[in-house]
Formats: sequence, C-alpha cells, structure tokens
Amino acid sequence: MDRIFSGIQPSGEIHIGNYVGAIRNWVKLIDHYDCIYCVVDYHAITVEYDVALMQKRILETATILVACGLTPERCIVSVQSHIPEHTELAWIFNCVTPVGELERMTQFKEKGRRHRHNVNVGLLDYPVLQAADILIYKAGYVPVGEDQVQHVEFSREIARKFNARFGKTFPEPQVILSEAPRILGTDGSAKMSKSLNNAIGLLDPPEVIWEKLRTAATCEHRQRRIDPGHPEHCNIFTMHQAFSKPDQIAFVDEQCRTAGIGCIECKEILFKNMREELVPIQTRVQEINGKPGYLIDVLRSGAARCKAIATEVMDEVRQKIGIKPAWLSP
Ligand code: TRP
Repeated sequence: MDRIFSGIQPSGEIHIGNYVGAIRNWVKLIDHYDCIYCVVDYHAITVEYDVALMQKRILETATILVACGLTPERCIVSVQSHIPEHTELAWIFNCVTPVGELERMTQFKEKGRRHRHNVNVGLLDYPVLQAADILIYKAGYVPVGEDQVQHVEFSREIARKFNARFGKTFPEPQVILSEAPRILGTDGSAKMSKSLNNAIGLLDPPEVIWEKLRTAATCEHRQRRIDPGHPEHCNIFTMHQAFSKPDQIAFVDEQCRTAGIGCIECKEILFKNMREELVPIQTRVQEINGKPGYLIDVLRSGAARCKAIATEVMDEVRQKIGIKPAWLSP
C-alpha cells in the first residue's frame, strides 16, 4: 500500500476547523493507505510557547487523534520527537537547501511578521523539518489543507535535489488536498484560532458550543428576520456544509434565501448535527483518559513502528551521502 504521512502541531486546543480540515480526512484515508499521523512537537517550538503546558498538549492532541478514529489497529499515531531520525534527516536536507528559498516561503514571511521578536533559525528551517518528516518514511502522499501546499511542494523539491545529487532515494510526495470547506472563526471574518478567541473547540461541552454558535456572526446582509440571506456569504452555512446532511444543506440554503427560517433556527439544526458528531468523540476522549497507560502504549508502539522504517532509511541516506563507508556496515 502507498504510504501517507501528515502532521499536526500540538499548539493549543484543537478546534472544529482542525477537525474538518485535517483529522476527518485523515480518518477517511486509513483504509486505503498505510498511514502515519504525527504530533509534530519540534515544529511547535519554533514560536513562543508555554513550556509547562507543552507535554499536556502533546498528549491531548494524540488522544484526540485516537478518539477521532485514528486507532493503532488501523494506522500509526506518533510523536515527532520520539523518532530523532526526523531531525537527523532534516540536518542533511539543510545541506541541499538554499537559504533564499526558505526566506521566500509564505508561512515564514507571515510568521516572521507576527513573531518579530523571535525570528529564529528554526522558524526559517521549518519546511526542511517538514520535508524530513515526510521523506524519512518515503511517504508518497500528504493530506493537508491549502495553507500547507507550498510546504509539500518544497518537500518535492528537496527530494528532487537530494536524488539528483546522491542518486534516486526519495519519492516526490504529492498533496492530497482536503476538499473540506474552510470554516472561519465565530466572528465570521478571521481564520478560526484559539488565540483570536473565535474558535469552537472539539472538546467544548455542548452547552458551550451552543452559546458560541448562538452568538456567532451570520451573513451581514441579513439584519432582520424578514431579510433574505446569502448562504454563500455565511460562515454558519459553511459549517452546515461540514456537519449537515445534503438534504438539510439544501433546506437551509433555500430557507435562508427566502427568509423562510431565521438564523437561530438555522443554527439549531447545525448545532444538533455538530453535537451528534462531536459528543461520541468527546466520550472516547474520556474513555482514553480513564484507561491509565493506554495512550502511552499507543505512542510507544507508534514510535517503535516508525523507528523501524526510519532507521532503515537513515542507513541508506548515510551510505548515499558518503558518511557511512561500506566496510562499516554490519
Ligand atoms: N506544518 C504543518 C501544519 O502546520 C504540520 C506538519 C509538520 C506537517 N510536518 C508535516 C504536515 C508533514 C504534513 C506533513 O499544519
């Protein structure tokens, strides 16, 4: 089976944007590919973070992945720092990567502006580590959202450069683009993000979700109940596309345009569907948290399975770059 790799940062509370845009797609792929899903903690330290909270967030993120259906029977769930070969390969890739290309990456420029006081080398090097994440397993496919396409293309380029210089070693990984609609924050304007206080957390209790939905921005053209709305400009409608069934989506679309139902009714339908999908996940999170040692076992076996692949690839890489002479081989 072809191999898939994807990563998620343990940076704060996972929200429904992460779930719809990434995790839910990952679950769909596990029956068709050999999948590795990784909590990328070394990526998360490229910006300021709370040291005291980091470990909790790593485990929480892994727990959510498993609770969403990425169980160890069906795929590998791992933590990046548990497999040091990721960073080892990144160093070698550093040596085939022109600095100028990293400086031109969109995310680097954007994060560089946001974290003006901490533009560290790791932030610049972020895409190289990401390429190593993928290529240390020779993964051919990488399911990501639109914002990560440039990074995956960059990893193709690294593979090409390495292969050209040292001989064919790596595949050129391809993007599997998440076709999910892009959910904005509850303000209806910015990207959903915990730091902007506009996120609906995957683990928010139903009453909290309802309160956030109830007060969430809708289509700005619909000031009054009798005004016809424009679902294509409404973030609540986008959420319907992510959580509601096709006939319900058609129903709210029509009813909104004709002012048949009001925004609150529309949100109630959405809330019911969201609750139906999220509550079972939340229950599984509680079950996992209630089984002492279970998650640690999942991550330990995940690391072992990753390590088996990664050591082999690193051996090959060292041979190819001339660091490990044949007479030293076991
Ligand atoms: N940069 C990705 C993000 O922020 C996370 C990531 C790290 C990743 N390594 C990866 C995604 C490898 C796919 C493949 O979403």
